[in-house]
Amino acid sequence: MEMINGHDPKPHAILFPYPLQGHVIPAVHLAVKLASRGFTITFVNTLSVHHQIVKSSQPGTTADNDDIFAGARKSGLDIRYKTISDGFPLGFDRSLNHDQFWEGVRYVFSAHVDELVGNMVGSEPPVTCLIADTFFVWTSMIASKYNLVNISFWTEPALVLSLYYHLDLLIKNGHFAKSHDNRKDTIKYIPGVEAIEPEDLMSYLQSTDTSTTVHRIIYQAFSDVKKADFILCNTVQELESDTISALQQKQPIYPIGPIFPSGFAKSSVATSLWSESNCTNWLDSKPTGSVLYVSFGSYAHASKRDIEEIAYGLLLSQVNFVWVLRPDIVSSDETDILPVGYEDQIKGRGLIVTWCCQIEVISHPAIGGFMTHCGWNSVLESVWCGVPLLAHPLLTDQFTNRKLVVDDWRIGLNLVDDHHKGKTITRDEAAEKISRLMGGKGGDDHELRKNIQEAKKILENALTKIGSSEKNLTQFIKDVTLKMIQKKYNYNKNIKH
Ligand SMILES: *[C@@H]1O[C@H](CO)[C@@H](O)[C@H](O)[C@H]1NC(C)=O
Ligand SMILES: *[C@@H]1O[C@H](CO)[C@@H](O)[C@H](O)[C@H]1NC(C)=O
Ligand SMILES: *[C@@H]1O[C@H](CO)[C@@H](O)[C@H](O)[C@H]1NC(C)=O
Repeated sequence: MEMINGHDPKPHAILFPYPLQGHVIPAVHLAVKLASRGFTITFVNTLSVHHQIVKSSQPGTTADNDDIFAGARKSGLDIRYKTISDGFPLGFDRSLNHDQFWEGVRYVFSAHVDELVGNMVGSEPPVTCLIADTFFVWTSMIASKYNLVNISFWTEPALVLSLYYHLDLLIKNGHFAKSHDNRKDTIKYIPGVEAIEPEDLMSYLQSTDTSTTVHRIIYQAFSDVKKADFILCNTVQELESDTISALQQKQPIYPIGPIFPSGFAKSSVATSLWSESNCTNWLDSKPTGSVLYVSFGSYAHASKRDIEEIAYGLLLSQVNFVWVLRPDIVSSDETDILPVGYEDQIKGRGLIVTWCCQIEVISHPAIGGFMTHCGWNSVLESVWCGVPLLAHPLLTDQFTNRKLVVDDWRIGLNLVDDHHKGKTITRDEAAEKISRLMGGKGGDDHELRKNIQEAKKILENALTKIGSSEKNLTQFIKDVTLKMIQKKYNYNKNIKH
């Protein structure tokens, strides 16, 4: 067996990201982080994700079309790459046939995983760890079958993990799964969460129909996570210390975030599922802090009406903007989204692209604000760049992340106040909020900018040599190694057929 430090066995982890853009990105950077600390990693993308990345990647990003990590390996990291079927043909529209796709991921995917892991028996160094996204439902089954150290990778804030983790308490207290009779009062009984309004729960915990595929995935995944040996979390101890400490009482959880590409530069490993427009030249022509960056991420959909109100809000606000407008933002069969003649009206001050390298755009000095769905990667990246946010959550954890951004950390504004009460966007409110964020009259931006600088410091400190995330990563590696030894090097021997 290979050794690190002369006596410890070298860990070899198979890493499975969830097949969604927002999960693949931090998983790739986690792979790099662990490999640079001595792990061997086998990174497994679905064929569908792999093909989309290869189709979108620009020359120079990927050295070898069949292996997104070829470049990283040349630089000395032991990251191997495999692809696996998610059970559907490549041409299948996973966004349009959402439920069918997730049902497939729930039932069929694990058989492919089982086969792949089974075929890796005998690899060198031997596979010792399984790192799977927390949303997968098969982790314990595979980990125990192959006697692997089981590690759950959580790509959202600890607050969200904690709420899913305590689903039983939400049910018992009548805040969830009571159909139309869910309690509406403040939730005050989740360990490590002082208080949260029901409207700030993840969208799936607010819906009245709790029998959907996604709900079944949630029930399974968050009972499974309780059996994991370790949980890795893309957050920072000092940002969410009460929540993390409470979880820590139940299970070893290591906040090691923010997990970014090194130097916060465009990653040398291709991760993007769409081809990216280069906005740099356009941004170079704009004054510092004058441009609002607008993006609602890779996954959620918005209504055509809301997109139209935002479009006019941007027009009325008169700020410069870069707007990432996915062609399928409304739906993949509704592509005619913007008002007629809109693009002529914004010439010179608005740039609309279908996708971009967010890290490159948001770190450009011309950017002064970020209108966002509050996806967790976006929040972390915005904090890192000290760019205050205008929050417009659409789905899943984004509602909960909004609470952190706007109510707790005060680093952003709501795009729509009283969003909870069913109030929808109007162009006038959008314009007013945009100009408040960007420092127009009655602006709150001074306070926001001060707070976000403090949050940014927390992230920066966490990643220094003596910072909490670095120390936690070191602790994690020690604990994994110990667990491997406890398992008596029995990997690949105890396999139950
Ligand atoms: C993970 O491994 C531990 C022992 O190392 C075991 O008790 C637990 O059941 C396993 N959990 C999963 C999810 O396989
Ligand atoms: C975008 O363009 C700028 C300036 O031309 C260049 O420096 C940068 O590398 C480009 N980015 C990508 C991702 O190609
Ligand atoms: C992570 O770091 C924080 C701050 O140094 C510390 O309090 C916490 O115990 C660490 N967690 C683990 C799992 O080592």
